[in-house]
Amino acid sequence: MYYSDNIIEDIRMGNDIVDVIGSYVQLKQKGNSYFGLCPFHKEHTPSFSVSPDEQLYHCFGCNASGNVYSFIMQMENYDFIDSIKFLADRINYTLPEEGSFGAVNKNSQMKASIYEIHKKAARFYYSVLNSEEGKKAVEYLDSRKVSLSVRRKYGLGFSSFNRNSLSNFLIKEGYDVETLVKSGLVFPDKKGGCYDKFFNRLMFPIIDVQGRIIAFGGRIIGDGEPKYLNSPDTPVFKKSQNLYSINFARKSGTKEFILVEGYMDVISLYQAGFKNVVAALGTAFNNDHARTLRKYANSAVLLFDSDAAGMNAALRAGPVLWENGIKVKVLQVRDAKDPDEYIKKFGASAFEDLLSKEAKSFISFEIECEKAKYNFDNTDEKIIFTNKVAEILAGLDNAIERDAYIGEAVRITGISREAIVDEINRVSKNGSVGFSPRKYNKSKRKVSGRGVDAGKQNIIKAMVSNYNAYRKIREFLSPEEFINPVYVKLVKIIDDFYKKGQNIYSAEIVNYFDSIEEQSFVSNIFVSRMDFDDVKTMEKEINDEVRAIKLYYIDIGMASAQEAQDIEAVNKFMIEKKSVGALNITLSDG
Ligand code: GTP
Ligand code: MN
Repeated sequence: MYYSDNIIEDIRMGNDIVDVIGSYVQLKQKGNSYFGLCPFHKEHTPSFSVSPDEQLYHCFGCNASGNVYSFIMQMENYDFIDSIKFLADRINYTLPEEGSFGAVNKNSQMKASIYEIHKKAARFYYSVLNSEEGKKAVEYLDSRKVSLSVRRKYGLGFSSFNRNSLSNFLIKEGYDVETLVKSGLVFPDKKGGCYDKFFNRLMFPIIDVQGRIIAFGGRIIGDGEPKYLNSPDTPVFKKSQNLYSINFARKSGTKEFILVEGYMDVISLYQAGFKNVVAALGTAFNNDHARTLRKYANSAVLLFDSDAAGMNAALRAGPVLWENGIKVKVLQVRDAKDPDEYIKKFGASAFEDLLSKEAKSFISFEIECEKAKYNFDNTDEKIIFTNKVAEILAGLDNAIERDAYIGEAVRITGISREAIVDEINRVSKNGSVGFSPRKYNKSKRKVSGRGVDAGKQNIIKAMVSNYNAYRKIREFLSPEEFINPVYVKLVKIIDDFYKKGQNIYSAEIVNYFDSIEEQSFVSNIFVSRMDFDDVKTMEKEINDEVRAIKLYYIDIGMASAQEAQDIEAVNKFMIEKKSVGALNITLSDG
């Protein structure tokens, strides 16, 4: 859900930027600002500044910039919504829950209890693992070479054979049966009591991005069915949305994640030093997973089991990731059934090698999987295969990439380049492209004309700092003339504030942008101050800049009018251009 502007601003005001940043970075006061070593790049002399007046931070070394939300987003690798939750939590601010009114409080109290129950259950399972009852499970972990520190890090535990042990413990802690049943960790019995869902299992706590235990997975010790058992969906857990180990991976410091199939694969890779690893919880990788991943990663290596099931899982997961804007590579482990076994057999550095040398693009993987299905001595089959490849390649909208893969297809099939290209064109025209959704567009913001850009930023600053300047400038400039969507949005926000008669704080304006890139971009506009000796120089500067912005806008409009041979529009722009010369903004007359 999206929170209202008021809520977002309340929470920002409640979290003083010097306090918040001060808990991560050692700050020293110098004049009106605080300085420290920038947490976002390596440096030895402090160039990271925090302004208590502006409630903005700015690094003169790496240009990182923003308000308290931006800082938390960058520092904790959160998206905007998560940073709101984080900072709300910090000041004990109760955010409205999805659903509404009366149900709100009850529901959020229920969730809070369920989180608490999970925390207590995890401690309980952990202590059982390390007691006499846990001996078999400890032996099992020893046999799988899971180190003590990783056991602790992942909070591994054990649910014993006694199906009342957790239930009894939690009842003694004061929880009622109804709440316990909602947590999914126990079942109700006929006498108004309850009994444990998990028994004789190695317990894996599942932790969300905010570090809360939301569920458990349990692996049977010894033989038995099912091998793995997960918590059911509860008010705090959706199995198809959560990723195991995302709490660690998001802090791994890389945006390339490794995606594996199993709990044990995750743990074993983590132990080998690959902290950027996650797994879906025994469900097929879906859009929700991809959207979660997208917040923290921009590419993923699929590292699935080496059997047919693993290969099919990779074939299905690839397009899901791709459609969500995540680049995909595939790595197949050889001579081992899964990544865990590979690392046990060959070691971490062999794995590192494999990862850097043998991870191939998803398209190559797809082509190879197809290739395995056909007999190339048979001309018909070779043609069907070429067809398939053409279909795969027709889904690629990047010409350079496509060209490279055509080369690969030529090499694999021995069919001529021309024939393959013809086939791709035919498939594209018929629209029978298998993977068209793959065409996602990263709409990158492009800033036009450097000098003009600086001018636009100055003008926006002037508008924010001075109502009179705003009024005069807006007489001559419309939001659209700023072209770049971020500037256009900014001008409209400024309009809104003045219309409501509100003061404008630059740190508040930053709230209106939700990606860290945009927040930083916007914040950077405000951190440098406009200093003019007198109104006359400021006036001259503003006039020059407004003219430059208008001329740039006219030039672009003119060019497209000429291209469209729209004489009327060309004439209109000519007239406008003339009037720009005569434009004169005076600030002094009030
Ligand atoms: P080990 O067999 O202990 O090495 O575990 P693994 O993590 O390698 O498991 P495996 O490769 O058998 O399966 C991969 C993942 O699929 C597991 O981690 C589970 O998330 C899931 N899974 C496997 N078996 C079951 C099952 O019986 N039930 C459910 N719900 N999930 C399962
Ligand atoms: Mn496995």
